[in-house]
Amino acid sequence: MTTNNAGQNNRVRIFDTTLRDGEQSPGAAMTFEEKLEVADLLDNLGVDVIEAGFPIASVGDFEAVSEIARRVKNASVCGLARAGFKDIDRAGEAVRNAKRPRIHTFISTSPVHMKHKLNMGANAVLDAVGASVSHARNLVEEVQWSAEDATRTEHDFLCRCVELAIRSGATTINIPDTVGYATPQEFFELIAMLFNRVPNIDKAVIATHCHNDLGLAVANSLAGVLAGARQVECTINGIGERAGNAALEEIVMALRVRRDRMPFETGIDAKLLSKASKLVSNVTGFPVQYNKAIVGKNAFSHESGIHQDGMLKNVETYEIIRPEDVGVSATSLILGKLSGRHAFKDKLSQLGYELADAAFEDAFRRFKALADKKKSVFDDDIVALVDDEIIRA
Ligand code: KIV
Ligand code: ZN
Repeated sequence: MTTNNAGQNNRVRIFDTTLRDGEQSPGAAMTFEEKLEVADLLDNLGVDVIEAGFPIASVGDFEAVSEIARRVKNASVCGLARAGFKDIDRAGEAVRNAKRPRIHTFISTSPVHMKHKLNMGANAVLDAVGASVSHARNLVEEVQWSAEDATRTEHDFLCRCVELAIRSGATTINIPDTVGYATPQEFFELIAMLFNRVPNIDKAVIATHCHNDLGLAVANSLAGVLAGARQVECTINGIGERAGNAALEEIVMALRVRRDRMPFETGIDAKLLSKASKLVSNVTGFPVQYNKAIVGKNAFSHESGIHQDGMLKNVETYEIIRPEDVGVSATSLILGKLSGRHAFKDKLSQLGYELADAAFEDAFRRFKALADKKKSVFDDDIVALVDDEIIRA
């Protein structure tokens, strides 16, 4: 995979869809107030676009999108709409008071969706693309058009749809991997193919919207960026339909940490990533898996003796991100059966103890025996163990 020379600048826009695609996760519904709280935090985080909901879906969604549009200070606020004028008008009305209102209209372009879901032929879909985008463009300046199921769409047809959407006034063209089917190489080639074949493609920003059914959403989004896409659609903690969407925190930190291979910038204040993850987990009730990259409880924890020893000598031995860079206060060296003398001594000194050699060896032996019986050894356990050692001495 090589970087294409699509002439794009290096700023990648972050389009957050936690409140729309994220809320589509079964069981993740948020209240009106919770949505406002998430929207405020997303705005402070520095996302470029907040997709606040699907206004025609319900009165509640319409009201939440309208209120978010009114209060958000920096980001564009976007409402989703199918290709029909009723959907588009409702989305336009909901985002009307935003500083930067955006309508996101979409239609399926793959054979399987056109036949079984839409019951429409290619010409009817093309007509709908032109009409929906022009109609939306009469309402707002920022119009995003998506080819739903783009990765399973026939290339010639996709090119025709994208060309028509741009001609009709779309300012962003989104290429979703709706069912999370693509591989990174394939997704790179799809975006590169569009840059090579679609006239005037530089008039729009090309976006990725990757689902995680095969666990490839982040890899595919980054492949899209390398091929010239300059908007990534993602959600906090990667929540979303089925296996979810690309995780915002992973995209942002991958671009930051591997700037050497992916020389792109986002406007995200990474120090708020941990806070955003916790908020979204709390309001949706979706726990974050312990080993989740960037924001998982164990992302900056080290338990094995070899790793703890390395970390105490130099954090770069086992950490590629400083925890404080993503808003986590400190690395934790978890004491357990795999911990070594070095980590144990370090913990004792943090707790204010300094033991003579023999007492230390005895305490260490008893700590190992305890650790064999317990999953984690807490500070209180160590204090009890050492106090006992001091009394016995
Ligand atoms: O996954 C998808 O295709 C979508 C579209 C509505 C953009 O969420
Ligand atoms: Zn989606």
